[in-house]
Amino acid sequence: MMWRERARAVAEKVVRPLAAKYDQLQEYPWEIKDALAEAGLMGVWIPKEYGGSGGGIVDLCICVEELSRACGGVGVLYAVNALGSFPILVGGTEEQKMRYLPGIAKGEKLISFGLSEKFAGSDAASLRARAVKDGDHWILNGEKKWNTNGGAADIYTVFAVSDPTSKSRRISAFIVEKGTPGFTIGKVEDKMGIRCVPVVEIHFDNCRVPAKNLLGEIPGHGFKHAMQTLDRARPGVAAQGMGLAAGALEYATVYAGFREQFGSPIISFQMIQAMLADMATRTEAARHLIYAAAKAVDENAPNVSKLSAMCKLFATDTAMQVTTDAVQIFGGYGFMKDYPIEKYMRDAKITQIYEGTNQVQRLVVARSLIKEGLNLRFLLDFIPKEIQHGVNDPDTLARKAAAPPETATA
Ligand code: CAA
Repeated sequence: MMWRERARAVAEKVVRPLAAKYDQLQEYPWEIKDALAEAGLMGVWIPKEYGGSGGGIVDLCICVEELSRACGGVGVLYAVNALGSFPILVGGTEEQKMRYLPGIAKGEKLISFGLSEKFAGSDAASLRARAVKDGDHWILNGEKKWNTNGGAADIYTVFAVSDPTSKSRRISAFIVEKGTPGFTIGKVEDKMGIRCVPVVEIHFDNCRVPAKNLLGEIPGHGFKHAMQTLDRARPGVAAQGMGLAAGALEYATVYAGFREQFGSPIISFQMIQAMLADMATRTEAARHLIYAAAKAVDENAPNVSKLSAMCKLFATDTAMQVTTDAVQIFGGYGFMKDYPIEKYMRDAKITQIYEGTNQVQRLVVARSLIKEGLNLRFLLDFIPKEIQHGVNDPDTLARKAAAPPETATA
């Protein structure tokens, strides 16, 4: 069976019937995780040599999409294991890959990604957790915020400052196992959405991590590995958003088909039809952008960061818009907790925030465009010269930059 059918079968048989229960309980749904493992879904993105199925990011996204159609929380509960294992895949030694990935692929071990801190969200490089070398160990101190899967996970990829004097080699990543003395779970967050998956603070108090757990066994590559991880993981968040949009659209279409007002099903009204048509069009556009980005990651294409950021921002903005419109179509019932649709809107909101806010995604896209623009200077030949004074003249450019705005020429 292909991944989509396999994931859809678990989504419909196991996830959808349990979605409201675990949303209300705000507890980790171990029975759903077991069903995912039994269906062989936990190792989709892990290469065969490390015990996985050898699929790629496209396959991962298809699974996340199908699960999120039934429950956005389960979509991230699943995808966060990919996020946590990507640093090992991207930067781990052979020994680290062999040690950790097979357990994750079987669904016997869960993994989590510890980058953000109270004072280091979008500005991920400003993190403060410290790692100090002590013989054949590193000693970790500090805390991490918004750790998704924390508490449930057995393994944590954790980023910390290993060389505060360095600008570009300041941060290293460590693989920390649950139960390591000095590693504790702190505050468990009470959340608006994705309530079945825990989000916690994690604390390190003189936590001694064996030197062999330094990712790649070379210090200073942590920030780069974090960025490469996020490039690979963002299509998964996009798929979570798009799956939520697709699921909300299905509920809204069915509801509009039988809900009668003014003597007719509301789907016969053009205002509702226009809403549904726009919802469907945006969802389909997001789907194709995600698959294109995921394929680019699988093929190691050069423009991965840009495409990955584009699909994340477009699909998750779509998720928020489509799920909000779906609630609107349900009208007063849509606002009530005994109807399934308000959960889609709550679950969608975080997708615009985590794994890089959509403002950060726009920044990543814009930085790529600025770089691409440098190779497009030949187009200046087609723009009248009268506005190009100083384009290539550093003195004029410096004068322009220094001039007060009222005297600067347009
Ligand atoms: N791949 C490889 N290297 C990269 C890279 C990439 N995509 N992006 C940047 N780098 C490298 C740069 O080349 C540079 O290297 P040198 O120092 O050797 O020159 C270095 O990293 C620093 O790059 P920048 O100057 O661009 O870094 P910056 O400080 O300006 O930050 C940023 C850029 C895009 C804003 C980044 O901080 C970012 O992505 N922020 C958002 C963080 C984020 O997504 N957090 C999510 C946490 S996880 C989460 O949310 C999970 C969950 O709960 C489920």
